[in-house]
Amino acid sequence: MNKKNILVTGGAGFIGANFVHHCLAEKIGLIVNLDKLTYAGNYQNLERLAYNADHVFVRGDIADQSLVQSLLDEYQPGAIVNFAAESHVDRSITGPDDFIQTNVVGTFHLIEAALQYWKGLSANDRSAFRFLHVSTDEVYGTLQKDDPAFMETTAYAPNSPYSASKAASDHLVRAYHHTYGLPTLTTNCSNNYGPYQFPEKLIPLVIHNALKGIEIPVYGDGSNIRDWLYVTDHCRAISAVLDAGQPGSVYNIGGNSEKTNLEVVHTICAILDQRVPREENLSYDALITFVTDRPGHDYRYAINASKIRREIGWRPQETFETGMAKTVKWYIDHAAWVENVTTGNYQKWIQTNYGQRT
Ligand code: NAD
Ligand code: DAU
Repeated sequence: MNKKNILVTGGAGFIGANFVHHCLAEKIGLIVNLDKLTYAGNYQNLERLAYNADHVFVRGDIADQSLVQSLLDEYQPGAIVNFAAESHVDRSITGPDDFIQTNVVGTFHLIEAALQYWKGLSANDRSAFRFLHVSTDEVYGTLQKDDPAFMETTAYAPNSPYSASKAASDHLVRAYHHTYGLPTLTTNCSNNYGPYQFPEKLIPLVIHNALKGIEIPVYGDGSNIRDWLYVTDHCRAISAVLDAGQPGSVYNIGGNSEKTNLEVVHTICAILDQRVPREENLSYDALITFVTDRPGHDYRYAINASKIRREIGWRPQETFETGMAKTVKWYIDHAAWVENVTTGNYQKWIQTNYGQRT
């Protein structure tokens, strides 16, 4: 086994691509990046790595167990980090099949390949190997305004097909540690934002629509609360858990930055008002439009991240204000990227999701 090699899955998506860039900047070792390149995966996110000898890109599916097995045999990684997933709640409501296929069946084949590989390692390598599964705070369900934040011990109560499929994958990972002794780690993180996020998610969608001068759709009355974490802080947390996490353990990761959706939207509009003023000094706020709510919309997520802080020493470096300023600037500076990812099928999705809302 080559301890420094990592098999990253889903590394052409939002968080995965940020993680791959983070690892290569830190010169951690060889990154083998397995991604199916669904609508959410974009090779452009990795373009500047084209000549980087420490990055190997493979287009493929985590559900293809023999492909995964051959990659493990060839590159002998010391860790697998699993980002690959269908990740958008609204898409899981209009079409849950892909979520079950990738998040549940795909994770099963990936971890099964990992187990077979791990069993063939020497005793030292078996104890050094890690399978890190990247999950979400949504598996814990929803909170009311004054409820305590989610802890690692909070009972699972997923409410959407997306969160149910992620919960199922978390349970598989737990079972593979408990039954076979595979050294697994699971991280449950709150909402991420930052560069390369596909503009179907709230923050990049708001920036995109505002700059185009089209309506900014806010579900319900905009009072739902999310805890926001800048993506690089999430990547640092994953690296830290890989290095120092206890096999079989779960770590909650959060930004300690709870905001209502309306607060998030107003923050983006205020930054844009400063950076790209509209004609006649109209605020971008004028584009906010309240639309039909998401079915089963979770009211609030909040993360208690004291375990990872206490045991591993991780804490976020960005505040919501610094992270949002960087994010809005990135989207303004990468208009060509936004243009490329919002043509074709993106328009069909916008019609499917927003066409039916009043
Ligand atoms: P994303 O949708 O931007 O990217 C997912 C990536 O996985 C894409 O590159 C896609 O091509 C790839 N993929 C999908 N199905 C695949 C398959 N069967 N085989 C191989 N690759 C496949 O997602 P993201 O927002 O970067 O999220 C990454 C992970 O982090 C997911 O597991 C998600 O549940 C979790 N997560 C996301 C957030 C968030 O706020 N975005 C927060 C917490 C946890
Ligand atoms: O909490 C972690 C999760 O965060 C991740 O596991 C998911 O992969 C990720 O997509 C995200 O889920 P959310 O549903 O919280 O993110 P989204 O950006 O879709 O929505 C954020 C909030 O904004 C949510 O309350 C719904 C609302 N919203 C979203 C869209 C797309 C709107 O009001 N209008 C919109 O157009």
